[in-house]
Amino acid sequence: MKASLLFLLAPFAAAAPTVEPRQAAQSIDALIKAKGKEYFGTCTDQRLLQTGRNAAIIEANFGSVTPENSMKWESLNPQRGVYTWGQADYLVNWATQRNKTIRGHTLVWHSQLAGWVRNINNRNELIGVIENHIKTVMDRYKGKIYHWDVINEMFNEDGSLRPSVFSNVLRDEFVGIAFRAARAADPSAKLYINDYNLDQPGYAKVTRGMVDNVRRWLSQGIPIDGIGTQGHLQAGQGAGLAQTIRVLAGSGVKEVAVTELDIQQGTNTQDYANVVRGCLDEPKCVGITVWGVRDQDSWRPQGNPLLFDGNYNPKANYNSIVQLLSR
Ligand code: XIL
Repeated sequence: MKASLLFLLAPFAAAAPTVEPRQAAQSIDALIKAKGKEYFGTCTDQRLLQTGRNAAIIEANFGSVTPENSMKWESLNPQRGVYTWGQADYLVNWATQRNKTIRGHTLVWHSQLAGWVRNINNRNELIGVIENHIKTVMDRYKGKIYHWDVINEMFNEDGSLRPSVFSNVLRDEFVGIAFRAARAADPSAKLYINDYNLDQPGYAKVTRGMVDNVRRWLSQGIPIDGIGTQGHLQAGQGAGLAQTIRVLAGSGVKEVAVTELDIQQGTNTQDYANVVRGCLDEPKCVGITVWGVRDQDSWRPQGNPLLFDGNYNPKANYNSIVQLLSR
């Protein structure tokens, strides 16, 4: 209802129920749960939750939140021995009070890493720092974080190990160190390895990178529960991601998730529906997270990649997901 109309009706509306501004009529979280999945989520953080209708939309339409930036190493532990919890605490409290699950993001990542960690070149020191960070962060939110992205973006495009302080000092040993520390810190959290450009089934980063390595790490007893494919797509890539979900599930991992979906759009409007279909079709796919609510708040706003427009109205993307999930 238009604001001007509300104003005219106001004198007569005393007994009427509160009229909410227009928003998506149906919750894609409720709909995907009705299909047997665990959640439909989005990323957010304190500033966005306190802006416009973000909080209302997330409350009504999503079942899971990922902190967009507040749990990254540079945010939580910018200097050795200094932890700044304010924004992450806000997100966790907001979600917990509203029965939203939380995807913790992320413990070990070369990017948005604290500078002091990047400079470590001693093996034992780095192991201690990784173990201490994981324990400190996971302890604080113990029992409240449903999934943790323990490691983020560790592969090159050809499937080899990306250079970083972690791989330079520890080679791939840091994988076992990180996942074992995470399991010990909070045995109730599902532990994920997450990466991007896992969107085409035959791509080397998918096959020689994620799938072959996860299979090997699982055979060594490293406690990896799930693979996350971020899903930062271009127009036309939805069907490929759907097939890739199956390939990732074939690594032997217990579950997979689409963790950061956004699709820079061209003329193809089928992409979101294709990705959701791909998750429905793979029993190990537990849920989908989109990387933001409104196009203009997206980290890559070109091509209007999200589900809501600047006025917080659901777009055709949202409605195509509702349609698919309502069948
Ligand atoms: C992005 C955030 O959305 C931006 O706000 C920030 O400036 C940079 O990071 N892969 C990830 C996410 O795992 O953490 C990134 O998030 C997007 C790419």
